Amino acid sequence: MSDIVYLNGKFMPVEDAHIPVLDRGFIFGDGVYEVIPVYSRHPFRLAEHLHRLQHSLDRVRIANPYSDAEWARLAGEIIKRNAGEDQSVYLQVTRGVAKRDHAFPKGVQPTVFMMSNPLVTPAPALVESGVACISAQDYRWLNCDIKSVSLLGNCLLRQLSADAGAAETILFRDGRLTEASASNVFIVRDGVVLTPPQDNLVLPGITCDVVIEIARAREFQLEVRPVSEAEVRGADEIWITSSTKEVLAVTTFDGKPVGDGKPGPLFRRMHALYQQFKQEHMRRAA
Ligand code: PDD
Repeated sequence: MSDIVYLNGKFMPVEDAHIPVLDRGFIFGDGVYEVIPVYSRHPFRLAEHLHRLQHSLDRVRIANPYSDAEWARLAGEIIKRNAGEDQSVYLQVTRGVAKRDHAFPKGVQPTVFMMSNPLVTPAPALVESGVACISAQDYRWLNCDIKSVSLLGNCLLRQLSADAGAAETILFRDGRLTEASASNVFIVRDGVVLTPPQDNLVLPGITCDVVIEIARAREFQLEVRPVSEAEVRGADEIWITSSTKEVLAVTTFDGKPVGDGKPGPLFRRMHALYQQFKQEHMRRAA
C-alpha cells in the first residue's frame, strides 16, 4: 500500500486522498497514466515515460498540466516520501470533474494523482523457470498506443490467464501478434529475435525499447516486423517485457512447451544483459 500520495497539488496519506464521484476518470475512464520503475530511488527512463505521457495526453486532447521539470520534481518528491530503494511510480491524469456528458467539458482542471509502491520484479526462481501464458483474440480498441486508464479490455483479457493460473494473456488480432494484456512480446525463431512494430495496436513499451536497444548494441539478429500467430506458435523462445516484469521467458504457451520448455539461450543472454544494463545505468547515481 502506498503511504503518501499526491493529489492535485498536495501530498497526503492515501487514506485522505479523495476525488469527486463526477471525475471523468471514474465516470468514463477518461484519462491516461504512466508506470515508472525506480531503481535506487532514481526513476528509470523518466524522459521517455514523460514523452509517452505527452503522446497519450495529445491523443486524448488533455492539456499537460505540468512541464517535464515539474513532473520530475513531483516524481522525486513522491519517491522521497515513500519507503524502499526500488519503487514503481504510478501517475494518472484525468480530464477532471464535470456534469456527466460525453462531450468534453469546458474550463475544467485535469485531476492529477500520483502514488508509489515497492517495485516487485520477478523472483530469481521465476526467471529460472519461466512462466506460462495463454492466448486470446485481441478485441480491444484500435488506439492501444494510448496508455489509457480505460483498461477494461486489458483487465478482462488478463483475467483469462489469471483463471488459468498463467502469468499473461498473449493477444492476436487478424492472425498477427499484437502484445500481451500488460506487456510487450518478443519471439525467437532460428536465432532471430522478432517483435511487432509499435503502431496503434500496441503500447510502445519503454522496456521493449530497452530490449531492442540492447539487442542492437550486442548484435543480436533482430527484426521489428509483423509477426504471425503461426510464427509465435512455432517459436523457439517467447519473452514478455514490462516495467515491472523486466524481461521474462514464456516456457509454456496454451499448455504446450515453448522450445524445450526451459528459458532459451537468447533469453538467458538478454536477461543477463538487462541486469547488467540496470546495474550500470539505472544504479549509476546510487
Ligand atoms: N503496463 N503493453 C501494455 C498493454 C501494458 O500495459 C504495458 C505496461 C506494456 C509494457 O510497457 P512498459 O515496458 O513501458 O512498462 C505493454 C504497466 C506496467 C501497467 O499497466 O501496470
